[in-house]
Amino acid sequence: MIKQQLDRFNRLELLGAPTPLEKLERLSTWAGRDIYVKRDDITPLAMGGNKLRKLEYLAADALAQGADTLITAGAIQSNHVRQTAALAAKLGLGCVALLENPIATEDSNYLGNGNRLLLDLFDVKVELVENLDNADEQLQALAARLRNSGKKPYLVPIGGSSPIGALGYVRAGFELAEQIRQSGVEFAAVVLASGSAGTHSGLGLALAEALPQLPVIGVTVSRPEETQAPKVQGLAERTAELLGEPLPSAFNVHLWDEYYGPRYGEPNAGTLSAIKLVASQEGLLLDPVYTGKAMAGLLDGIGRQRFDDGPIIFLHTGGAPALFAYPGVFSAH
Ligand SMILES: Cc1ncc(COP(=O)(O)O)c(C=O)c1O
Repeated sequence: MIKQQLDRFNRLELLGAPTPLEKLERLSTWAGRDIYVKRDDITPLAMGGNKLRKLEYLAADALAQGADTLITAGAIQSNHVRQTAALAAKLGLGCVALLENPIATEDSNYLGNGNRLLLDLFDVKVELVENLDNADEQLQALAARLRNSGKKPYLVPIGGSSPIGALGYVRAGFELAEQIRQSGVEFAAVVLASGSAGTHSGLGLALAEALPQLPVIGVTVSRPEETQAPKVQGLAERTAELLGEPLPSAFNVHLWDEYYGPRYGEPNAGTLSAIKLVASQEGLLLDPVYTGKAMAGLLDGIGRQRFDDGPIIFLHTGGAPALFAYPGVFSAH
């Protein structure tokens, strides 16, 4: 069983208690369907988010290898880089990040506010790059440079989405399955933002074993189903292999790819409406790059009757610091 195998892996205990599973009362009334939220936006480091779960395993691996520097890459407004940098600071490790500007904007808020502002507080060494089209090679080259200068770098892939990182969401999936069991509620689906895929693959693996009837639906934030599906499937297979278990027969990749346009990092009207709605109904902050798009998909899916009967769980993966990088979009909306 995957659940038992998970205990074999080193993990830094950074999360503490399980993140809450809560009903969104006013949003449920608004939507005519019960909607619950799994609060991974409030994991306890540097404004929260999903990456701390992956970093529990990745940073444990880094320390076991004697690393003194975490290196990673992402967008200028990457939540992943922010959480990796914060954890490096907490562990007394150096951090170097390759950052790209995926929407080619000159907006000073995008370039300097939100997540990017926080990176300076964590003392990250930032290297701006034209793009991250070959991120693995770019990170390998950075690692080689750091080794030449006497450092011991540990490479955290984009989004923390390696099999080791995905273990964090395998663990999250079993945590959620236990909360679902205790709630006594029969849920129709779990909805989440599917990006570098570690969250989707890991959660999907655990739930395929623990609650095989419950679909995990990924709303894509950067690419169409055609290219996202092999990413999720491939990472799930490699994670199962790392665990030494076969892929559970109930594992299925469900993707909705109608909500990410015009492109990664650029919110559309549905994204902005979803963010405004959830903030005004619940006092809950979504973000313009990931969770706003995923919630827009969830709400549209209810309207179009894409779900089976029953309440829906929204996995809130964080990202609200990026709101401060996009202030103008809300006043224009
Ligand atoms: C707020 C937020 N939600 C969702 C995701 C997507 O998670 P994954 O990259 O594991 O698919 C990210 C990744 O950066 C994120 O920052």
